[in-house]
Amino acid sequence: MSFEKDWREDAKRAAVEQALKRIRDGQIVGLGSGSTAAYAIRELGKRIATEGLNVLGIPTSYQSMFLAIESGIRLTTLNENPEIDIAIDGADQVSRDLNLIKGGGAALTREKIIDSAAKDLLIVVDETKIAAILDHPVPLEIFPIALQTSSKRIQQLGGKPILRQSLGKVGPVITDNNNFIIDVDFGVIKEPGNLENKLKTIPGIVETGLFLDMATEVYVGNKTTVHVLRKSII
Ligand code: 5RP
Repeated sequence: MSFEKDWREDAKRAAVEQALKRIRDGQIVGLGSGSTAAYAIRELGKRIATEGLNVLGIPTSYQSMFLAIESGIRLTTLNENPEIDIAIDGADQVSRDLNLIKGGGAALTREKIIDSAAKDLLIVVDETKIAAILDHPVPLEIFPIALQTSSKRIQQLGGKPILRQSLGKVGPVITDNNNFIIDVDFGVIKEPGNLENKLKTIPGIVETGLFLDMATEVYVGNKTTVHVLRKSII
């Protein structure tokens, strides 16, 4: 592994360690998806095994469900426990005002449902994910029959959609909900709230990877330390 990759993995792990200190006995915990969330799930499993921590997890994907089972985390559902105490998740990009782009792992719909049900959403990233303003392509989960119609509407909004291709099968990625993912380049997103509202009116868009005003804290790992960004309360 190159040094560049190496420090990012260490930074993610260090940030996860800090964030996990927020988890208390008796809590319902939302379990995010992706490589950083996977570190968090494994670490939570270790705390359960070593400290006897008593928590229930709600997974945001098949990835996090299987990893939680393997890590000894007891699971529940949002229907049994609609209020989550704390969720820990990764992100593809984080702006200085703590808006997020998520969906690199195609789990954005379940992530948004579960993360938004959490009283506190802790995001864990390495510092390469921090940006002054959002400009990462926005993943959108699309109902398959609406691929062409919704793509056309997205282009009319100035976006350049690309159907995400699978690495483990031929053809497009199929999400945990049996839908497609398109990654849409909108350039610099000056008004993410406005874009989100417009995308939400397009029939066939199941969910967007814009996670606005949701994160409570962002744990950012760099080469030497971890710092925490918090939403400023005006
Ligand atoms: C999955 C996600 C992930 O949290 C996001 O892609 C970050 O992943 P990683 O921690 O592997 O960089 O949104 O849908």
